[in-house]
Amino acid sequence: MTDPRNLPGADPHTGQREVDPVTGYDTTGHDWGGITELNTPFPKIVIWAMVLTFLYSVIAWVLLPAWPLGRDYTRGLLGLDQDEMAVERLREIDARRQDWLARFDGAPDFAALQGDAALIARVLPAADRLYRDSCAVCHGQEGIGGPGFPVLNDSHWLWGADPVTIAETLQVGINAGHPDTRFAQMPAFDWMSRAERQGLSDYVAALSTGEADHESAGATLFEENCLACHGERGVGGLMNGVPALTDDAVIYGQDAETVMATLRKGRQGVMPYWSDRLSIAEINLLALYVAGLSGANGGVRR
Ligand code: HEC
Ligand code: HEC
Repeated sequence: MTDPRNLPGADPHTGQREVDPVTGYDTTGHDWGGITELNTPFPKIVIWAMVLTFLYSVIAWVLLPAWPLGRDYTRGLLGLDQDEMAVERLREIDARRQDWLARFDGAPDFAALQGDAALIARVLPAADRLYRDSCAVCHGQEGIGGPGFPVLNDSHWLWGADPVTIAETLQVGINAGHPDTRFAQMPAFDWMSRAERQGLSDYVAALSTGEADHESAGATLFEENCLACHGERGVGGLMNGVPALTDDAVIYGQDAETVMATLRKGRQGVMPYWSDRLSIAEINLLALYVAGLSGANGGVRR
């Protein structure tokens, strides 16, 4: 047994414990110039909390990956590996994706895909993401277009509105490096006199507002030089990459000043091809999505 004289608060000579009359606590026996130090016990709950955290850390070190060992680390008995867990999750997501992507592979029946509302609801987020990642830089959010980049959410098309045609445009691009790329060039008319180009530009600018004078010199020049590609009085609509000039849809701009620039320099917009960057299924999904942006053609977005 411990000598009672060595216990805290005990008188070293008598072994008697000294109790503070006010608080009822034992004293430590230390006396600081008349002030006696109480032996206030350390709260038990704190001690238990420390014991529990210590036990937890020991268990965690044993079971879970914990200690770094230079290039490696202790793996723990449970063998959990977050890298592998993440890869596994990705594999699962991919498998689920393959499940519906397979339906877009090859030459799908777009009308049937469109009709499958549950499928469309599932693929819409993926289509949105693909569009944002690959297309929005040029064609704008939701296909609003921009100078030099055609609007994709209206009903005016250079090549065609149906998903099959759009998929083809995505595969091979326009004026792009693909061997089968679509080709569309607006030649420069820099050999014309400035006055001729001005007359033409005024005529073309007026075509889209419906106020064109079809008897003017500009109209004659148009028939001689432009009709072959842009159609009679600029109605276009041949879906061979040449825009109509009679509507309010523009690529570069149809005010007389911009048309002057178009005539002087020519135009040949480049749309990259995607066959080496996206899978066929992704391209088909995007084609259906883009067809749907205009609302009029049906598609992923309606
Ligand atoms: C680097 C800019 C750029 C990117 C990125 C781009 N496009 Fe284009 N796209 C163009 C240009 C420029 C044209 C018009 C080419 C021309 O002037 O003949 C075009 C034309 C098109 C057309 C033809 C429109 C019509 O009226 O027939 C479609 C469809 C299209 N893009 C869809 C897409 C999709 C979908 C993506 C994403 C996978 C995409 N584009 C990415 C620049 C781009
Ligand atoms: C060989 C066919 C061809 C001929 C000839 C041609 N164009 Fe074009 N034109 C195009 C193509 C293709 C485009 C689209 C270019 C692009 O997208 O980069 C275009 C674009 C334009 C645009 C721009 C439209 C916009 O929305 O910004 C104008 C304006 C235009 N042409 C006017 C004319 C006029 C005026 C003439 C006659 C002097 C003419 N074109 C002759 C093929 C032609």
